[in-house]
Amino acid sequence: MLSLLPLLLCIFSSTIRAAQGPSPRPSVVHVGALLTFDSTIGRVAKVAIDAAREDVNSDPAVLAGTRLDIEMRDTNCSGFLGMAEDWLSSLLDSKGPLSSYTMSTMQGIITLRQHTEESERKSDLISRWGNLTRKESGNFRLNSYGFYAYDTVWMLAKAIDSFFDDGGIISFSNDSRLQDSTAGTLHLDAMNIFNGGDLLLDKVRSTHFDGSTGVFQFDSDGNLIHPAYDIINVIGTGSRTIGYWSNYSGLSVVPPETLYTKPLNVSPSRDQLYSVIWPGETTIRPRGWVFPNNGKELKIGYPLRVGYTEFVSKSPTTDTAKGYCIDVFTAAVNLLPYAVPFKLIPFGDGHDNPNYTALVNMVATQEFDAAVGDIAIVTSRTKIVDFTQPYLSSGLVILAPIRRRKSNAWAFLQPFTLEMWCVIGILFIMIGTVVWTLEHRLNDEFRGPPRKQLITIFWFSFSTLFFAHRESTVSTLGRSVLLIWLFVVLIIQSSYTASLTSILTVQKLSTTVEGIESLRTGNGFIGFQVGSFAENYMVEELRIPRSRLKALSPEEYAGALELGSDNGGVTAIVDELGYVEIFLSKNCQFSIVGPEFTKNGWGFVFQRDSPLAVDMSTAILTLSENGDLQRIHDKWFTRAACFSESEEIDSERLSLSSFWGLFLICGISCFLALVIYLTGVIYQYIHLPSTHQQDPSSHRMPKLGRSLREFFSFLNDKEEDVQKRYSQRGHKPDGDVSVNLET
Ligand code: SER
Repeated sequence: MLSLLPLLLCIFSSTIRAAQGPSPRPSVVHVGALLTFDSTIGRVAKVAIDAAREDVNSDPAVLAGTRLDIEMRDTNCSGFLGMAEDWLSSLLDSKGPLSSYTMSTMQGIITLRQHTEESERKSDLISRWGNLTRKESGNFRLNSYGFYAYDTVWMLAKAIDSFFDDGGIISFSNDSRLQDSTAGTLHLDAMNIFNGGDLLLDKVRSTHFDGSTGVFQFDSDGNLIHPAYDIINVIGTGSRTIGYWSNYSGLSVVPPETLYTKPLNVSPSRDQLYSVIWPGETTIRPRGWVFPNNGKELKIGYPLRVGYTEFVSKSPTTDTAKGYCIDVFTAAVNLLPYAVPFKLIPFGDGHDNPNYTALVNMVATQEFDAAVGDIAIVTSRTKIVDFTQPYLSSGLVILAPIRRRKSNAWAFLQPFTLEMWCVIGILFIMIGTVVWTLEHRLNDEFRGPPRKQLITIFWFSFSTLFFAHRESTVSTLGRSVLLIWLFVVLIIQSSYTASLTSILTVQKLSTTVEGIESLRTGNGFIGFQVGSFAENYMVEELRIPRSRLKALSPEEYAGALELGSDNGGVTAIVDELGYVEIFLSKNCQFSIVGPEFTKNGWGFVFQRDSPLAVDMSTAILTLSENGDLQRIHDKWFTRAACFSESEEIDSERLSLSSFWGLFLICGISCFLALVIYLTGVIYQYIHLPSTHQQDPSSHRMPKLGRSLREFFSFLNDKEEDVQKRYSQRGHKPDGDVSVNLET
């Protein structure tokens, strides 16, 4: 409506002219109006303007005898209609989670018309342009525009009347600014300017009257005060007002003019509407709107799988699609906020798995509206169709046969790493030496000629491995060290036994294929699942000659792998993890080699820019987050019965990292025992006379020149002999070291 006003005024100010003589009140005032005749608004406004002109002129009191003449001209401007449509869209969008493509349907159910108060004049006007409204039935904006056009003419008449009352004179003059400086064809200098423009504009702005639309008044910015809309529920060919919207009160079931008199926050009816009667004569809000496909159900293709029918296939009994992918699709569709009627159409000959890329192409060429199934999301396909988010990740892997590892003569060395073997060896010798040192002075079994003692060290230490050492230990320190060492030996022994058992039994499997790189550079045949994108991937991305590739159905996998490349089979098969996991659950003699070398997933296919792809992605993410996706997966697939056996034996070998704690305890105990022992011996050596210390005056401290040899010789002395020497001298060392050492 507001855009209609400047249209009239603009023309008015340049065409109004005095019709007769110098009288301040001319007999006729000519007003020009620009309208788009060939538009809904234009048609109704034309009728309304004519009606208003007649009404103004039929009442001489309005303009005190002056006649109003309105000349209407056609223009193609339809900006207002566009603006109104935009407004309606944005308002409806903000009212709920409706996608923009549901708008056309929505507008058919709920629409808006500019709000006007009920009045006798309004009913009268409706009956006067009734023929026209009937012709335009279904358009609820029609009457409102008519009322506003009608009121605008009245507003103008009242403003002109007030203009004359205030001494306004209709006169025109030349303006120096209107000059055609470019000497063009506009002839601006021939135009005149209406001298009373400012006064008339003031009168328009201050207009205040009770029009057919209610109180007609502008605010300081020239906008109509309290614009409002009726919210209409269209039911069949009729309609019902379910509430109002105004910029003052918001949504409400109470007419805005009632609310204008009340403070906003006390209105209990704010933001409420009467319930909508939806198609089907129901007040229950529908789950959503039918996906607009011209009333037709979507044609959705699905691959007619022959192998791994758990994913998707046709039920032989009911002839309908079934499988994991179909269940995921149905669950996702059920989460959409609108209904999507669809029909699943099988694609494939029923003898071999169909070509999935061909299925995707059929969506791109619009033979199918969408495709559902175990369809891998790959770049070449995403260029022509839109995919949903993946509902299952399934990259390419290598499937290869695994063979029994031949028994190795050196298998007994495998439980420990080389480093571990070295450390164990050193520990044995160390323990032998420590125990010998601790026992040497007390125990005859650790005495004798040097050669014999050396053998004793080795024999003693290694025999502890079998707890078969003959020599008894007599010293407390020796026994302590031996006790800890025997515990370490126990652990080493049992770990060795366990590890060797595992290597000789479980880890007897190996495969000739090492990974995708060795497969690519080799010469053997490589299998792929018939119809899969894996074929093109290997040719185009991995540059493997097509002649090396063999299409296999899943039933042929086992046979081809067992035959091997040289006997008409294949070296390995490249297929998606989703299928391979199922294959391995029934065929334990094969294994996945290496990791997934592509990170694909399966998604549903839609035509380019289909809004369904986005909404379905959201639905799939919801299924994933609430655990339904996993539940559907578990319903269709059981866990794999056998696992990949291809781990390297190395990973099973026991290394130092598992034992260093044990070895540390052992080392510390040896060290402490030696320190205690040597402290005692040195004390004894310093304080007590020996055969090596004949000079009694020097028994307190060893002289610097005393040779190391003497000390070692003392060390070599039997404890018994040393004690004898004490008794001969009648001297007993402080602290009774000998007793301490012997017990
Ligand atoms: N999932 C495969 C593909 O999409 C078929 O095996 O090509």
